[in-house]
Amino acid sequence: MSPEHSFPLRNGVLHAEDIPLPELADRYGTPLYVYSRAALQTAWQRYERAVAGRSALICFGVKANSNLAVLHEFQRMGAGFDIVSGGELARVLAAGARADRVVFSGVGKQSWEIREAITAGIKCFNVESAAELDRLADIAHEMGVVAPISLRVNPDVDARTHPYISTGLKENKFGVDIHQAPSLYRQALQHASLKIVGVDCHIGSQITDIAPYLDALEKLLTLIDRLIDDGIRLEHLDLGGGLGIRYADETPPEPADLLDPVFLRLAAHGLGHLQVVLEPGRSLVGNAGVLLTRVEYLKRTEARNFAIVDAAMNDLMRPALYEAWHGVVPVEARASTPTETWDVVGPICESGDWLARNRALPLEQGDLLAILSAGAYGFSMSSQYNTRPRAAEVLVDGQDSYLVRPRESTRALFASERIPKR
Ligand code: LLP
Repeated sequence: MSPEHSFPLRNGVLHAEDIPLPELADRYGTPLYVYSRAALQTAWQRYERAVAGRSALICFGVKANSNLAVLHEFQRMGAGFDIVSGGELARVLAAGARADRVVFSGVGKQSWEIREAITAGIKCFNVESAAELDRLADIAHEMGVVAPISLRVNPDVDARTHPYISTGLKENKFGVDIHQAPSLYRQALQHASLKIVGVDCHIGSQITDIAPYLDALEKLLTLIDRLIDDGIRLEHLDLGGGLGIRYADETPPEPADLLDPVFLRLAAHGLGHLQVVLEPGRSLVGNAGVLLTRVEYLKRTEARNFAIVDAAMNDLMRPALYEAWHGVVPVEARASTPTETWDVVGPICESGDWLARNRALPLEQGDLLAILSAGAYGFSMSSQYNTRPRAAEVLVDGQDSYLVRPRESTRALFASERIPKR
């Protein structure tokens, strides 16, 4: 999915569905995250079509965008959720999710988080270490219940993506070494308070090629054969998330490009009965959102031209953290302004505070810019650094807009802080 469909240019003005973006900027202020409901639906339908008639569950990776309105939209369409914290569990339940469609990933699950997930009745814990397995078994035993588990195995494949978002290599902290998995599964069998239901892996993010997935699948099939020999029957196979989106000129696979060969391979291996679980985050929301920002100042120096905007690395951390490239487009084209090369930077006191570099743009002070492909890992990774209130979030549906998170007030940022009496 590319952003053009839901953020069309009409009469020289960029829109979110049917609403001109300047209207949203006037009404809600900037910086502003704007999401398109139609884009969320389109992205979801791609997965839905790819699994039609199969036993499958698509669990939205909540960390990509955890606004309740977005979660609710996916919940309505039939999604499950992949969570990584007690906080995300609380969010998905507040958004109306069915707990039996929630899987819980993450290397550092705390006891309280495990207890709350057991109480809620989630579908599966994706266990990432022997120590976690023991903790989970103890807590479930104490609570007098049987907890459903998968092991998240690390298949040691290279997802060929940015090192910070590659997770399936041996040297990553994630998952259990695939060679150690059979013995850990046997250990799990010994615990009456655990029920083995699946196997799980997640090899990375922004993956633009299905080959690493299929490599991982082959390794999982070998593992599953071993488990069957050990008398372990699984109900599902979770291949994680990771499908990429188009930021610049990438041509990422469609969900069906991944899922068709997976279903074929499973059937050929006599495992057609296994439910396939996926945990896509970015590919469901990334191109459904833009970050709207206004140019505060233009500053020309000897070395570079800076467009200083009112959004910053605290609002969209991806460029600072991963040197990520996001498209930047003027919201209103103005033929009279000459195009120059600009670094689009925020007001934060760090040289790393940039959003885009070396962009040919016709800019004037006060102009609005849309930073594209900002629906995933945008707001959800934002912070209040420099005591900057986090941006507002708006969901657009045709001609309607809904403020789904108001801008934070400055006072609220420190309202809970205390000065000691002496
Ligand atoms: N499942 C697990 C266990 C994960 O760790 C992740 C993402 C996902 C699913 C969803 O992956 P996706 O479909 O979104 O690629 N902040 C980085 C991305 C970090 C991804 C972390 N894990 C970024 O902005 O690029």
